[in-house]
Amino acid sequence: MPEMTEKISFTINGEYRSVEIDEEMMVIDVIRDVLDLTGTKRGCDNATCGTCVIVMNGKAVKSCNTPASKMQGANILTIEGLAKGMELHPIQKAIAESGAVQCGFCTPGIVMELHALLESKPDASETELSNALNKHLCRCTGYEPIRDGALIAQQLIRERMTEKA
Ligand code: FES
Ligand code: FES
Repeated sequence: MPEMTEKISFTINGEYRSVEIDEEMMVIDVIRDVLDLTGTKRGCDNATCGTCVIVMNGKAVKSCNTPASKMQGANILTIEGLAKGMELHPIQKAIAESGAVQCGFCTPGIVMELHALLESKPDASETELSNALNKHLCRCTGYEPIRDGALIAQQLIRERMTEKA
């Protein structure tokens, strides 16, 4: 039987895009294979490891098990959309400074998870931060530097908000 195709439109990293998808595709297939945004990593491919997390309509979403049709009309952010030119987003800076980037494979998913939480809730509790990080597997760091990085990120985001006020 021929695959059904569908045209969808969405905004990704501030850019409006329209693409053709087939019914089997997940969000990660569109992001990596159609749009060539390979910063989002494919790990387990079964919603376990968290490496594929992106932000969709302000929420952290596992792109490996979210059907591509859900992208229709959505506002999507991937790791490529965070830095402003050479200037890293505070969460990227914090995660780098805390030594939480070793092989780096888990990093984009963790940064996007923290972005979804801290940009909407800069006063998130330590439990909320832990719950968010618990969705992510890391083979390298032992998790302590990631937790430290999350706390530094929260501090930087709060400072940025105070500067703007
Ligand atoms: S690749 Fe999506 S959760 Fe592992
Ligand atoms: S830094 Fe290697 S998997 Fe996390």
